[in-house]
Amino acid sequence: RLVIDKELPDAQIILVSNREPYIHNLRDGKIDLVVPASGLVSALEPVMRACAGTWIAHGGGTADRMVVDDDNRIRVPPDKPAYTLSRVWLSEEEQQGYYLGFANDGLWPLCHIVFTRPVFRESDWEQYKAVNQKFADRVCEEARRPDPIVLIQDYHLALLPRMVRQQLPDATIIMFWHIPWPNSEVFSICPWKEEILDGLLGSSIVGFHIQFHCNNFIESIDRFLESRIEREHSAITFGGQTTLVHPYPISIDWPPSVLESQPPVAECRAKIFETLGLPEDMRLLVGVERMDYTKGIIDRFLALEQLFERHPEWIGKLVFLQIAAPSRGTLPAYGQLHRECLDFVEDFNRRFGNEGYSPIVLMDEHHNQGDIYTVYRAADVCVVSSLHDGMNLVAKEFVAARDDEQGVLILSTFAGASRELLDALIVNPYDPTAMGETIYRAVSMPEQEQAARMMRMREVVSSNNVYRWAGTILQDAARIRKRSRVVDPV
Ligand code: G6P
Repeated sequence: RLVIDKELPDAQIILVSNREPYIHNLRDGKIDLVVPASGLVSALEPVMRACAGTWIAHGGGTADRMVVDDDNRIRVPPDKPAYTLSRVWLSEEEQQGYYLGFANDGLWPLCHIVFTRPVFRESDWEQYKAVNQKFADRVCEEARRPDPIVLIQDYHLALLPRMVRQQLPDATIIMFWHIPWPNSEVFSICPWKEEILDGLLGSSIVGFHIQFHCNNFIESIDRFLESRIEREHSAITFGGQTTLVHPYPISIDWPPSVLESQPPVAECRAKIFETLGLPEDMRLLVGVERMDYTKGIIDRFLALEQLFERHPEWIGKLVFLQIAAPSRGTLPAYGQLHRECLDFVEDFNRRFGNEGYSPIVLMDEHHNQGDIYTVYRAADVCVVSSLHDGMNLVAKEFVAARDDEQGVLILSTFAGASRELLDALIVNPYDPTAMGETIYRAVSMPEQEQAARMMRMREVVSSNNVYRWAGTILQDAARIRKRSRVVDPV
């Protein structure tokens, strides 16, 4: 808010993402409100609340259309309206081609090193282009002035910066890519690589979580587009326009507002232990994610298997609670992962459990943020074993939830968060034996060491919080906007 008041007092802020921050669904004849399981939403929602702009997103809930006004708008959050949500409607066919097809069957596996083959279909690409145009038109409809600040989020909308630039040449356009960017050889698989790169270079700034992904992006540009690259300034000039490429490590609200309604840690623990029917001295490990093949869910179970085989004295003494919210379920790779997980857990519990003891509890349904924070607060260990991840905000949320300075974080070296949370136990999720030993170390860690590590991680997340992330981006945007006004006064 301070940055906006000081640097951008007259600016209009428009944020665009595929996923909406609030989903309205019809359940038993009533409208039910869901906050989706999305790192993007949990990071950006508090920012939008603070800066009171307009958020354009795809309205996908079964009751979304029932709550909007004539212009497809609604003020949110519903209990304390602070900004406008402007919903874009997509047909089944558009949703299939743009979201499930090109974005999640093509770009998602392309950008994550998980050895899942990306699928590129011409018909998906056509829908992707058409839907990007639909979002661009909405941005222009929402723009009250010729020079808004447009914050575009993620791989669903790679063509949007160019499309918006064509209609609003004076806009300051920031594209933030929430997932990794692959090396140029991998990127070259995409049949429409030049179009994607050209689309992104409509931006004033392209942001990634870490420098490594910025470097990969610049390499891709260097290889596939005729442009001028000034590496020392991370600046690319293409078609007469300059785009800066910067790392902005995303984070979370601090202290998270959801903590306000959380009972003390001991009560959270008692509540979860009662729900799961666990004795007091059981160790509780947790994993929280969408059911996604990039998250390394089975890999952490394989590590648990190693732990039980090498340290059988731990059988019966710990339980792994895995929350896996259903995601993109109609795509074959997701359906297959879900089935594999269910089978694995069943077999694992048969081998290592008994009538009164299930070492893995898999909850494959959506949970609200409050319940998730209660789980974080109840746990001894949180395991984030992503095979590849832009940042991973679960790691930061776990740290934020532990105001008692207890609990151990196990974190994949392939998640962007591992560059910041150096006091986590860092693991290679492809090495189940070593990860099993790390779990052993985590469950045996003395309270004093837990406190020292947790304290340092809390310092990192509290100072590098999401307001700093957004503030830095907006400050850079303000600088660019001022400069373009001096060069080309309106
Ligand atoms: C990732 C993407 C986000 C997306 C989230 C949830 O974090 O970077 O853009 O919102 O996954 O995925 P979904 O497909 O449910 O929106």
